[in-house]
Amino acid sequence: MSVQSAIKRKTAPDIRARKNGEPIVMLTSYHAHTAALVDRHCDVILVGDSLGNVMHGFETTVPVTLDMMILQGRAVMRGSQRALVVVDMPFGSYEASKEQAFHSAARVLKETHCGAIKLEGGVRMAETIAFLVERGIPVMGHIGLTPQSINTLGSFRAQGREQASWEKIENDARAVADAGAFSVVIEAVAEPLARKITQDIPVPTIGIGASAACDGQVLVIHDILGLCEKYSPKFVKRYAELTPIIAEAVKGYVDEVRAGEFPTADHSFN
Ligand code: KIV
Repeated sequence: MSVQSAIKRKTAPDIRARKNGEPIVMLTSYHAHTAALVDRHCDVILVGDSLGNVMHGFETTVPVTLDMMILQGRAVMRGSQRALVVVDMPFGSYEASKEQAFHSAARVLKETHCGAIKLEGGVRMAETIAFLVERGIPVMGHIGLTPQSINTLGSFRAQGREQASWEKIENDARAVADAGAFSVVIEAVAEPLARKITQDIPVPTIGIGASAACDGQVLVIHDILGLCEKYSPKFVKRYAELTPIIAEAVKGYVDEVRAGEFPTADHSFN
């Protein structure tokens, strides 16, 4: 007997079919509580390796491990019912060979039950993407600024601002689409180039700092909630400022405990 939920979760083919349609909305989440909130509104939840920065305080995403991604991917799947959940492949878990990528991605799908994985890289990862897709693993690509390559890039600079640099990024987008990715994240790419890529490739583009010309948008949840006190990139819009609210709540609790005002009889058992 099959055990199926009455609620149908979105799939990678559903997202692929949204090319040139209503904008696709994706947001990161790393645990069950925010996943449930995001799930009510978003098409896709990305368990991004940005969790290394926003949850663990690493400077880059390089130290993130496959086990960390799987743990948080499972939490997000438990918290959500409708959105397609995409789990990022962390640095070092897929670049060595197609076989390494398959073993890592299969672990992610088996252990989290998520619907797709995302990996960084264009032309250099095309063969791997085709290998995974042929073997039943839906892949979201990620081109433009690829944060896992920070140690060779040197800085998180926007890409494609000079027309001379367009060809490489266009080739990356085409290679990922031709390899069978169901969509591709374009990060920190100048608007004219993002527009051109979106018009040229048959799969949806999801922009982060790549303008409204893309087929969809993604941001990091900590950024939109104002939970990151450090510098935030130009492409981030804060929809709330939660840091001072949380600080105020923590201080309120501490002050009341120290003053003997909490707990009261209302919070105690007779
Ligand atoms: O890890 C992440 O959150 C991402 C987004 C920035 C696209 O890859």
